[in-house]
Amino acid sequence: MKEKLNQIEQDFSNALASSKNIGDLNALKSDFVGKKGALATILKGLKEASIEERKEIGAAANRLKEQFTVQIEQQARQIELAEMNSRLEREKIDLSLRDSVQEKGLRNGSYHPVSIVQREIEDIFTSMGFEVLDGPHIEDEFHNFEALNIPDTHPARDMQDTFWFKDMAHLLRTHTSAIQVRGMNTHTPPFKFVAPGKVFRCEATDASHEMVFHQLEGMMIDKDISVANLIYFMKTLLSQIFGKEVEVRLRPGFFPFVEPGFELDINCLICGGKGCSVCKQQGWVELLPCGMVHPNVLTAGGIDPSEFNGFAFGLGLDRLVMMRYGIDDIRHLHSGDLRFIKQFATY
Ligand code: PHE
Repeated sequence: MKEKLNQIEQDFSNALASSKNIGDLNALKSDFVGKKGALATILKGLKEASIEERKEIGAAANRLKEQFTVQIEQQARQIELAEMNSRLEREKIDLSLRDSVQEKGLRNGSYHPVSIVQREIEDIFTSMGFEVLDGPHIEDEFHNFEALNIPDTHPARDMQDTFWFKDMAHLLRTHTSAIQVRGMNTHTPPFKFVAPGKVFRCEATDASHEMVFHQLEGMMIDKDISVANLIYFMKTLLSQIFGKEVEVRLRPGFFPFVEPGFELDINCLICGGKGCSVCKQQGWVELLPCGMVHPNVLTAGGIDPSEFNGFAFGLGLDRLVMMRYGIDDIRHLHSGDLRFIKQFATY
């Protein structure tokens, strides 16, 4: 009997050592300590044994039963822990973009330079209390021309070569000024907003002209607004964007929707004013057409021009981006060339 117990103990420790999962352990438990297990069989066999043997073997078998149970539980805890750890390892979520880029060699993306500058300008203007508005790319004639004091027969329509739809009533907007009209119709003065977006013109392309480009419109309507207010906001914008005072000049400019109208030029930052392809050898870049909103435009927008007035501007966003980053050809912006776009990647 004693030898049998020794054998059982030996078998148990071998079986325990090769148990790899909870299923193995359950089988082990029923084989050794279960009702029909090895130890139970021994205890049953004691019926025919002598009193001494019963005492001795019975006590030893019960001790083994306790010992086996404890060992099985310990092993089960270890297996569970190992399983949990390997699951944590397998299902780990890497939340750090930085690590993915550096350690796994993933490519880091970037905002397009136009988006970068657009967002910066939005921040500058929202910090001064301006709203940011959006408008549709496909406009109707009323919002793009008519309401902006450019009637059907006005020669100013020729200034902006337009992509018309077949119905000749809709078009790809030629400027973000169309959003001035939408803004006036949905706001009650006083108000001020900026409106960035893509605009479209059927133009021959060169280093400074594209068929699709970006503008950022601005409009402020209140009582007693003057050209001084307009100049203040434009200078604030430019000095913040370039991080320094930029030389500007104001020339009279004609736009039917402003009176008086101006062209605000900045000293070319590509060539420092010496003359290059971006500034067309002029040393100055036309950047910010602007002016005081024409009374007819206020009226078309549902605003009483005898009570309110204001200014509007139409910033050439792509040109500003080019000045800021020293890009000498506007066609790079839409080229889709990764070598160009990768230069703006940051994290
Ligand atoms: N919409 C004009 C253009 O695209 C620019 C502009 C906007 C001029 C606002 C004056 C005021 O040429």
